[in-house]
This record gives sequence, structure tokens and C-alpha cells, in this order.
Amino acid sequence: MTDMTESHTVAFPQNRTCPPYHPPTAYDPLRDSRPLARITLYDGRPAWLVTGHSLARTLLADPRLSSDRTRPDFPSPTARFAGLRNRKGALLGTDDPEHRVQRRMMVPSFTLRRAAELRPQIQRIVDERLDAMIDRGAPAELVRAFALPVPSMVICALLGVPYEDHEFFEGQSRSLLRGPTAADTMDARDRLDAYFAELIDRKQKEPEPGDGVLDELVHQQLRDGELDQEEVIALATILLVAGHETTANMISLGTFTLLQHPDRLAELRANPGLLPAAVEELMRMLSIADGLLRVAAEDIEVEGAVTIRAGEGVLFATSVINRDESVYADPDILDWRRPARHHVAFGFGIHQCLGQNLARAELEIALHALFTRLPTLRLAVPAEEIPFKPGDTIQGMLELPVTW
Ligand code: HEM
Repeated sequence: MTDMTESHTVAFPQNRTCPPYHPPTAYDPLRDSRPLARITLYDGRPAWLVTGHSLARTLLADPRLSSDRTRPDFPSPTARFAGLRNRKGALLGTDDPEHRVQRRMMVPSFTLRRAAELRPQIQRIVDERLDAMIDRGAPAELVRAFALPVPSMVICALLGVPYEDHEFFEGQSRSLLRGPTAADTMDARDRLDAYFAELIDRKQKEPEPGDGVLDELVHQQLRDGELDQEEVIALATILLVAGHETTANMISLGTFTLLQHPDRLAELRANPGLLPAAVEELMRMLSIADGLLRVAAEDIEVEGAVTIRAGEGVLFATSVINRDESVYADPDILDWRRPARHHVAFGFGIHQCLGQNLARAELEIALHALFTRLPTLRLAVPAEEIPFKPGDTIQGMLELPVTW
């Protein structure tokens, strides 16, 4: 470990440069100072940034790091995030034992088996979206035509949220995750709260409950007093937002990355059995959820060298962690044959992504169908002209113009 007392601080987060599948070049010094570095957040507050793979897994499993965003010392990566901290979120915003209770309620709907059962439905949705896109003819904007609607439709079906409302909730999710101002973000959250309050009310009045996760929450946990309305709304919000934005970004950025690596794409086309490994490697390489957030609830001594003090912010740079040379040889190279499975792109520990089985199924089906149905798929504009999302949110493409 390098001397942690030396103060080279890097601003975090920063925008990725082109190509957007690599971490920002400004993070290069962080690779040399693994496993832990000092960073400066947007408001000038210093924090710790975990950059080493082994330390990341140790600390993400450490109950002394809190995920409770209502704590006054919880670190904010952006001004708009700071504005959201006055209300308790579900799952990701809670610590055990509260977290454990919520997670146990949710796990049965997100098992590997449940994701496998959903595969035919996901395939149908993917096929329909591709049919519609192909019928309209080339060129197409892939985010709007395919990458966003597929996970949006899947999560709506799973939760029991009407897809007819997608323009509304996709817009609010965008504002929640990307502002642009703190006021936009808070307005979006208020609108989503009001939307779910009304939907819950409608579901309570239905004579026959539907079979979505939200129906179950309303007709069991809410009715039985295990959860109150505010908690159901918080759960519905995280499931709906995390359930479509993240996967949509992986589909768009994954497609872009494959088009930039024709040899890897050719291997995949020749051998679709590589698909699960390819999804893991893309997850590792792209690390779209960069900068996981925690605060130390107690002092934590790290590898006998440094003490993270109670109240200090701790962030996890998944893009840097997932390129730790001690775990991944030639980490900047996309390689289906490496064991990428232990990446932290879905997090680690008690908050490890609840939807990861679903996300993997969606990615495998979507990427396979896209490149099989459109063997000549290519970018419709030069790669440098394609706009991608800023570094302070989930990474992905804003638009992806393609032709075939
Ligand atoms: C490829 C797409 C996805 C990526 C990259 C991703 C990434 C992540 C990461 C990194 C975390 C941990 C955050 C932390 O520890 O601070 C997380 C948690 C979570 N994800 Fe995902 N996710 C994806 C898809 C999904 C889907 C489809 C759902 C469906 C509902 C989902 C729901 C959640 C929930 C509820 C949590 C919080 C879990 C908890 O606190 O117990 N995610 N995700």
C-alpha cells in the first residue's frame, strides 16, 4: 500500500473521455495508489476512495460502513444528490437490521430461478421491439428504439406498473439521476411519490390483485402492517428506477463497445455459448455504476496502515476496482475468456444488486437478438460524435444512432 498520508487528491467523480468504456484518464493516478486514495468531492469535502479489488470486497462487507443516506455526514457526489437525502430510501438507503427485513421480502421475486422463468417474456419483448425498429427502417436511435424500452417493459411487467405511463416515469427517473438541478431532482422524486401513492390506492381498490411485485406489497405487506405506505413507495421507486435505467445503459454502452471491438463481436457471433461470459466481461469493463457511497459509522483500521475515521465518506470506484491488475491480467482489454465473475459492477455485500439475475438475462437476450437479427449493425455517425452521460451518474449513451 502507498503511504496514505501523502496527499495527492483527485476530484471524484469525473467525466469519462472517449471511448466511454474506459474510466476517466484523470483517474490514472488512482491506479498507482491502490487500494485506497484521498479524493475531493464536488463540495470540497475530502473522502476516501477505494480502488483495490480485495479491499473493496472487505469493506463492502463491513457493517461499520453505513448506507443510510439520511445521516448528516453521508457523502454527496453531486449537489442534486445532497438534496435527496432528507428522506429515507428503501434497501440501498438502509442498514441492517432494517435492510435485512426489506431485502427478505424482495428476494423471492429476484432469484435466478425467477429470472429464468422470465426469459420467454423478455425474449418476446426484445423481439417485438426489434420487429418495430426494423419495420421503421434504418437508421435508428437505439436508446429510444430498443435499449430503454426493453428493460422498462420488463420491470413494468414484473412490478405490475402500467407501461403506458413509461414516458412519465422514464422522464422522472432521468431527472432523479441526472437533474440537471437539485430542484429538478427533488421535483422528480415528489412526482414519483405522488404517482405511486395513486397507483397503490388503485391497486388497493382492485377486487382481484394482480400478480406484480407491487401488487403483492400492497395486498400483503401493506395490508398486514409490515410496511407503511411510505416504505412501499420507496421500494417501488428504487425497483422501478434501478430496474430500467441501469440495464438500458448497459445495453447501449454494451452495444457501442461491441461495435468498437469487431473481433470480439465476431467471436460471440461464432459461438453464442460465450454470451454469459461476455456479459460478465462487459459488466466488468464498463462498470456503469461508478462511485458507490458509504459513510464510516465507526473508526475502521485498514490493513494496519490507515484509519478511516467515523463520519468520513467512503466511495468505491468500481471502474478502477474492476481493472485491478492483481486480479485481472491486462485489465483494459476486453476478453471473453478471462474469469470476470468476481467483478464488483453489481456491488458486493448486503447491498449487492438485487436485480442482477434479471439484468444478466436481459443483457444476454437483448445483445444476442440485436446482433443476430442485424448482422450488419453499425454506428450511423462517427464514434466521437455519440453523446454519452456525464461521470456523475450511471454511465451510458444519451443517444446511439445506428444503421444496418
Ligand atoms: C446492468 C444493470 C445493473 C447494474 C450495473 C446494477 C448495479 C447495482 C449496484 C452497483 C448496486 C449496489 C450499490 C451499492 O452497493 O451502493 C445495485 C443495487 C441494487 N440494484 Fe442494481 N444494477 C443493475 C440492474 C438492476 C435491476 C434490473 C434491478 C431490478 C429491480 C436492480 C435493483 C437494485 C436494487 C433494489 C439494489 C439495492 C439492493 C440493496 O440495497 O439490497 N438493479 N445495483
